[in-house]
Amino acid sequence: MQSDVTVVILAAGLGTRMKSNQAKVLHCAGGQTLIRHAVDAARAIAPPERIFVVVGHQAERVKANVADRGVRFIEQTEQRGTGHALLCGRDELAALEGLLVIYYGDCPLILPSTLAQLVERQRGSGAAATLISTRLKDPTGYGRVIRTESGNVAAIVEQKAATREQLAVHEINAGIYCFEAGIFWDGIRELRPNNAANEYYLTDMVEILIHRDREVQDFHVKDSNELLGINNRVDLAAADKVFRDRKVHQLMLDGVTIERPETVTIDSQVHVGMDTTIEAFAQLRGATVVGERCRIGACSIVADSELGDEVEIGAFTSVANSKLRNGVHAGPYARLRMNNEVGEGAYIGNFVELKNTKFGAGAKASHLAYLGDSEVGAGANIGAGTITCNYDGVQKHKTKIGEKAFVGSNSTLVAPVEIAGNAYIAAGSVITKTVPEDTLAIGRARQENKEGYARRLRK
Ligand code: UD1
Ligand code: MG
Repeated sequence: MQSDVTVVILAAGLGTRMKSNQAKVLHCAGGQTLIRHAVDAARAIAPPERIFVVVGHQAERVKANVADRGVRFIEQTEQRGTGHALLCGRDELAALEGLLVIYYGDCPLILPSTLAQLVERQRGSGAAATLISTRLKDPTGYGRVIRTESGNVAAIVEQKAATREQLAVHEINAGIYCFEAGIFWDGIRELRPNNAANEYYLTDMVEILIHRDREVQDFHVKDSNELLGINNRVDLAAADKVFRDRKVHQLMLDGVTIERPETVTIDSQVHVGMDTTIEAFAQLRGATVVGERCRIGACSIVADSELGDEVEIGAFTSVANSKLRNGVHAGPYARLRMNNEVGEGAYIGNFVELKNTKFGAGAKASHLAYLGDSEVGAGANIGAGTITCNYDGVQKHKTKIGEKAFVGSNSTLVAPVEIAGNAYIAAGSVITKTVPEDTLAIGRARQENKEGYARRLRK
């Protein structure tokens, strides 16, 4: 990490073209906000105390979104252009010597390695600045790189201000620059809002430096995917796809089998262990960690959860905010709603819902059950149709089921209630009071047989 590098990320605009009430940089691609992606890339080239985010629209929300990264902020209360954003931080920033990397918060796909290369290209080059350029089939909307006859960078011209001839240029400004800090802060004094939009364009810095007989060089990046700027929802979907493709590509190289990789959705932050198989249309979201040799079934969704090794998630299963230890089986069609801890080797079958439940090692709930606010001991067996009645209409209550307890099918456990270890609940019982250890509890109407009744009725 080079401590003479300062990074400024511009994120003050609302992003009118998104047609949203939410600031553009708070929209998500690849499972993370655009601004978090942008900040994370910066961390590869500068220490957090030299990373600055320019905030304006929804400043508090943008700040909160990246607060854990330890970066600093510059307020731009009125958005008067990308150059104006820098002017807002001049007092603080101009004191920092070395290299000044600037890019936009709506450019989330930039790779840390590309930023590092940009810095290296600038360092010791003798140029005043280096900017990243690329060639696009459709350059619409981007600033164009205008060159002199000898091929040197002469200026950046914005789409709105470009002549027909300039619009035909396919080489675009990615909006990612590395300046010599001293030269930049000296030159920015000449920046004027002399364009139709009456904005201070950061891109005008190129011409300013060249007029001062300084060289501006470009760093041509071939993979234009990396440079995609997000201005509307179409761009957002395109960026999301790039993130998804990158993620599955990396996971496959790391030893994860992904069936039909084009169909799965795996967020950038997700970890998956070796020899795990992910079936078609599965989704792994948020801060999910999956161990080794697991199987994630088709169309299942696992969010913000921790799965040990050899965990099997059946098709169409939803797991959120839960911890599943080694060898757990859940699904198909199971729902682990939130805050569950499922012990080693436990079995959760189809149409079983768990909420806020500690489910012991080796315990089983094989079909059709609801376990809410409960604790189930190791090796317990929960029969089909068991329901914990955890809600009395006002408050939630706990159900405790001891180790190796056997809860017969279609039992109704009215919380708060406790069933001790090795107890036995007869099928169809309504349990309202404590069942002691090794006890059989039967809480149902006794069966009565009326001999010959049916025959008499038919007559
Ligand atoms: C900008 C560049 C363009 C380049 C393109 C690459 C300028 C004038 N144009 O255009 O040459 O090809 O990016 O994607 O720089 N922002 C502020 N304060 C402001 C204005 C903008 O913080 O006053 C922030 C926005 O929040 C946004 C970023 O700067 O994240 C870029 O602004 P945007 O309006 O998207 O610029 P482009 O039109 O894409
Ligand atoms: Mg943009």
